[in-house]
Amino acid sequence: MTKLKLGFLASHGGSNMQAIIDACKNKSLNAEACVVISNNSDAFALQRAQKENIPAYHLNSKTHPHNLDQTILSSLQKHKINLVVLAGYMKKISPVILAAYKNHILNIHPALLPKFGGPGLYGLKVHAAVLAANSTESGATVHLVDEIYDHGRILNQVKVPVLPNDTPETLAQRVLVQEHQLYPETLRKISKNEIIL
Ligand code: GRF
Repeated sequence: MTKLKLGFLASHGGSNMQAIIDACKNKSLNAEACVVISNNSDAFALQRAQKENIPAYHLNSKTHPHNLDQTILSSLQKHKINLVVLAGYMKKISPVILAAYKNHILNIHPALLPKFGGPGLYGLKVHAAVLAANSTESGATVHLVDEIYDHGRILNQVKVPVLPNDTPETLAQRVLVQEHQLYPETLRKISKNEIIL
């Protein structure tokens, strides 16, 4: 793939986004963070973007009641994005964006898909479900995004052991540390054509 020009969609903290930006900055990843889009005006991800001098937009169905999907797409295209990176984005990706970026939208999910994914399984609910199932291991998955939640082709995974006294919070924290390695590493593999999209 040519140099990755990344466009982020994030709803909250954006710590995964930051891990990727840091990898770009320290040149361990040959990519450029070009735009950040959030549906949530309070998202810390927007503040991170500002601090990093990355163009950032607050776009949602209230700011753009008639043309949200087209506006998101235009923003990505304006910044010549060739890979869309979902980083804790809580909205469904519309068919128009899926079509424009077919096989070029990535997401990270905090469990070992295809287990513990799908509608309703997000945030701490994922980790609570893993604990309720008495799983001995969990992890994180980077996958392509398609029209079904948490369903697209799996690109990379990391395993994280479940510890006897884990709560959803402690497990989430340990998984998140691994996510911060997995997401940049996956992008590195894409940039080196070790993973073909
Ligand atoms: C991560 O746990 C990720 O797996 C999930 O949302 C969370 C985002 O965290 N999709 P952050 O915004 O990157 O800190």
